[in-house]
Amino acid sequence: MSSCFKSAIFILFVLSVQLQNLQAKSAVPSGAVRPYALVAGGSKGIGFAIAEALAKRHYNLILIARHEAGLKQAKAQLEKNYAVRVEIIAKDLSFESSATEIATWCKEKKIALKMLCNVAGFGGTNDYLKLPLDSLRYMARLNLESTMALSLTLLPLLESNAPSYILNVASMAGFAPIPEKNMYAATKSAVLSFSYSLRYQLKKKHISVSCLCPGPVFTKPSIETDTKEKLGWFGVQMAVPVARVGEIAVERTLKKRMIIVPGTLANISSGVIRFLPQRWTTAIYAGLGG
Ligand SMILES: NC(=O)c1ccc[n+]([C@@H]2O[C@H](COP(=O)([O-])OP(=O)(O)OC[C@H]3O[C@@H](n4cnc5c(N)ncnc54)[C@H](OP(=O)(O)O)[C@@H]3O)[C@@H](O)[C@H]2O)c1
Repeated sequence: MSSCFKSAIFILFVLSVQLQNLQAKSAVPSGAVRPYALVAGGSKGIGFAIAEALAKRHYNLILIARHEAGLKQAKAQLEKNYAVRVEIIAKDLSFESSATEIATWCKEKKIALKMLCNVAGFGGTNDYLKLPLDSLRYMARLNLESTMALSLTLLPLLESNAPSYILNVASMAGFAPIPEKNMYAATKSAVLSFSYSLRYQLKKKHISVSCLCPGPVFTKPSIETDTKEKLGWFGVQMAVPVARVGEIAVERTLKKRMIIVPGTLANISSGVIRFLPQRWTTAIYAGLGG
């Protein structure tokens, strides 16, 4: 009886070790060439957190941002902590030529692109009727046009490395109109709509499209101040630490989820916002000064 019990324990132990090995292997991208993920806006904030979560899973990285210093710092940190290669490209994604130039660079280097993360974005506490036209155009170009353009120009590389992934970063602000952040909410809503449709368009090509819609993430002091001012205690509870957002975003993208809202409270709030008629949510946001 006791030897039977010991054998059962031994078999269970062997099985659990096998299972752990299998799980570890499934997190490591297979194939002789290590795949790359391109993170547009990957030098800091949510983009850096996504890059780090990918590095943990052994993806090589291409990081895009405007400032070379931030990119070099991110590259040094990631290469020191993880056994990955990090390429950096300093470019303003709001420029019309940027997407094509980035795609040409990737093709010339024969990059095995497995994942595109469109993260870079611009927002603020107040936009339409307050910001000059140039700033509003910049917002539309960066938040929406660069996502659309990079997805299209990098599509051949993603297709040749399928199954592959696109992760677009919208916002909870994309679920309903927000009067004071009119253009920000409009661009993020467009990113959401674009992602939904693209997911169906690319299904047969085995490219999975996901859309990250975070609530507040305190990547800079202005976001924390604005959240506390408008949502108070509730807003602070809803906020999710940036590293956690990156981890959740990558984990669920690899699981091929469509909408990704990190945090339980943000998830519940998103459900309510999406359920209510838009004229109500718009009025509520207007009342909150949002
Ligand atoms: N933080 C939040 O509470 C929150 C909530 C919901 C959604 N989001 C969305 O999440 C995304 C990231 O937000 P974040 O707070 O992490 O921003 P962040 O900390 O300001 O980081 C933005 C990243 O994008 C790069 N970037 C900015 N403008 C660029 C441009 N024109 N061309 C190329 N790269 C550019 C930045 O580097 P350089 O400055 O060097 O260019 C940086 O790497 C945005 O799309 C934002 O709308 C944020």
